[in-house]
Amino acid sequence: MSRLVELEGEGPRKLEPDDIDPEKGDVAICQCGLSEGFPFCDGSHRKTDGEEDGVRYTYEEDGTRRRVERIVHGGE
Ligand code: FES
Repeated sequence: MSRLVELEGEGPRKLEPDDIDPEKGDVAICQCGLSEGFPFCDGSHRKTDGEEDGVRYTYEEDGTRRRVERIVHGGE
């Protein structure tokens, strides 16, 4: 399982002490690429439940999950 994710950032994001969750005392970094508060985990990874091994997915803004059958790159 993997996902195609579009990100607009062009550089690193420095974490600040205020980024630490005061209740949990930690910072959770999103590794699924679906968080609306990227780079922080917001629980959106739950949408990936049921993804199959060896399949690539993309997610629409409304949360609809689609299988990616093949990727075509444009030529120059
Ligand atoms: S790991 Fe991506 S939202 Fe939690």
